[in-house]
Amino acid sequence: MCGIVGYIGPKQAFPILMKGLYRLEYRGYDSAGIAIVDSDLKLYKTKGKVSDLEKFVQGKDISGTIGIAHTRWATHGEPNDINAHPHYSQSKNLALIHNGIIENYALLKEEMIGRGHQFNSDTDTEVLIHLIEDIQINENVSLEEAVRMALNQVIGAYAILIISRDNPDLLIAARKGSPMVIGIGDDEFFIASDASPIVEFTKEVVYLEEEEIACIRRGEKLKLKTIHNKDKTPFIQSLELNLEALEKGGYEHFMLKEIYEQPQSIMDSMRGRLNAEKGIVKLGGISDYENKLTNAKRIIIIACGTSWHAGLVGEYLFEDLARIPVEVEYASEFRYRHPIINEDDIVIAISQSGETADTLAAIELAKSKGATILGICNVVGSSIARVTHAGSYTHAGPEIGVASTKAFTAQVTLLTLMALDIAHRKGTIEMSRYRQLLNELESIPDKVRETLKVDDQIKELARIYTYARNFLYLGRGYNFPVALEGALKLKEISYIHAEGYPAAEMKHGPIALIDREMPVVVIATNKGTYDKVVSNIQEVKARNGKIIAIVTKGDTAVKKLADYVVEIPETEELFVPLLATVPLQLLSYHIAVMRDCNVDMPRNLAKSVTVE
Ligand code: F6R
Repeated sequence: MCGIVGYIGPKQAFPILMKGLYRLEYRGYDSAGIAIVDSDLKLYKTKGKVSDLEKFVQGKDISGTIGIAHTRWATHGEPNDINAHPHYSQSKNLALIHNGIIENYALLKEEMIGRGHQFNSDTDTEVLIHLIEDIQINENVSLEEAVRMALNQVIGAYAILIISRDNPDLLIAARKGSPMVIGIGDDEFFIASDASPIVEFTKEVVYLEEEEIACIRRGEKLKLKTIHNKDKTPFIQSLELNLEALEKGGYEHFMLKEIYEQPQSIMDSMRGRLNAEKGIVKLGGISDYENKLTNAKRIIIIACGTSWHAGLVGEYLFEDLARIPVEVEYASEFRYRHPIINEDDIVIAISQSGETADTLAAIELAKSKGATILGICNVVGSSIARVTHAGSYTHAGPEIGVASTKAFTAQVTLLTLMALDIAHRKGTIEMSRYRQLLNELESIPDKVRETLKVDDQIKELARIYTYARNFLYLGRGYNFPVALEGALKLKEISYIHAEGYPAAEMKHGPIALIDREMPVVVIATNKGTYDKVVSNIQEVKARNGKIIAIVTKGDTAVKKLADYVVEIPETEELFVPLLATVPLQLLSYHIAVMRDCNVDMPRNLAKSVTVE
């Protein structure tokens, strides 16, 4: 969602800010803007892309060594030039950019209109900067103090940056519920929603904590305090991110690059954690909670979207291997439905970005009831990683494509390691079987590499099916979440309607949709309920549906029935999601490319969903 960049230092701010905005494009947005101070406070903004903003400012005065820039994903007010950020205060002395939602903005706005304020936009953000200036003038306090006082009146979430015409040596940042990172260079500071705009300038960063305000003064050390006026010492960390990981590296799209990275990213998520030869699984991040996990009466998995699908695979794994009952919950439903949470429950929160607002709120709820919360996150230092009791990073590397690919397979890999570890400790798995599974898991990166060879075949398939307006994805057991994930990938990036279903459920409704126009993707690998899936395929064929089947290499039965088969290497049933997902990612990718869709930044979507 909204992206924030700020700079203060000896260099010209404009090129740094623009570069930062381009790096944040992946988060999803619909307008962009920038404000820079030298002798004046200059503010430019426009609906559309960062490249539109760049064109818009051509020939205009963009000089200055302090500035803020923003990409907006509309919440309050339609995406247009006026609602775009930054927003001026009443006197135009201050400018603000904001990620998050001020929930009580309507009330605050009404009060200020009563005091003579005039608003130009429909946004909650403009209300906040008016409020800050109102306090600054009426209470006769410094800008920093006015920000602090205003934030005490605000209900909601925010990551904000503020600059002032009167003080070109001061930039103020604050956060609650939305992320903010401050990069520390030589006499300069880079501020952003995530580390991607910062990494090429400095590796030293400070992650702002909840309700912290940073006072960033030119030539001075970073000062932090809370909105309750308590001084804090900045905790400086070193970024592990490298620049190449943020670039396309010769691929046409980030999504394709990330699909192809999966042999490596799966390996990275197992690195130092799996030693098949010695029969060891070690998840250092959660080792303090091993006993709790092993003795858990129940596991609750909370997540959204693709991460929720990974959670479903986790349910099968934990129940199968470790014999622990699992509930997989949409975070957005869980948080509002008065769930029963016990102190001995283990809650596993899964999130690529680590910033998803619903997942964060669900964690807070479960935490307040005394449950133990473990995180599975990809983004290091993210909010979810910090609010959970313990956790393991997926180490998949930055995922820039909005459609999640390598994060999913890394999440599933981690859940597999967890389930195997608990099963081993609990004794719910025979030693020989445990060793066999560890060996097979170690071979999965190579098998994913092998699976990727179907790319050209999938491209051909995509060409045939670009006409389709609907798709059905079917799978059973471990392949049911794979069907859901395949359908989600297709609809997100190609805007084709697709539904994932447990294959046997088809006859309870969706079968009515099947005709000769309807492609049905069936994951029909050779283990588990294979024979039943073959029967489900026959039901589709009897109604002239078109079958695209994902099968195990060497399959014969499905080949006779299906219109197209895509072969993947043989593996254990519980590892099939790690392979079968790959051709489905490629299918959605190629269909989207052929339909001329914006694969990496699909319409209306945001990479990290920081509003509920
Ligand atoms: C789908 C996708 C989304 C995310 C969801 C949760 O491709 O990317 O469905 O999976 O928004 O995001 P995280 O995992 O960051 O919590």
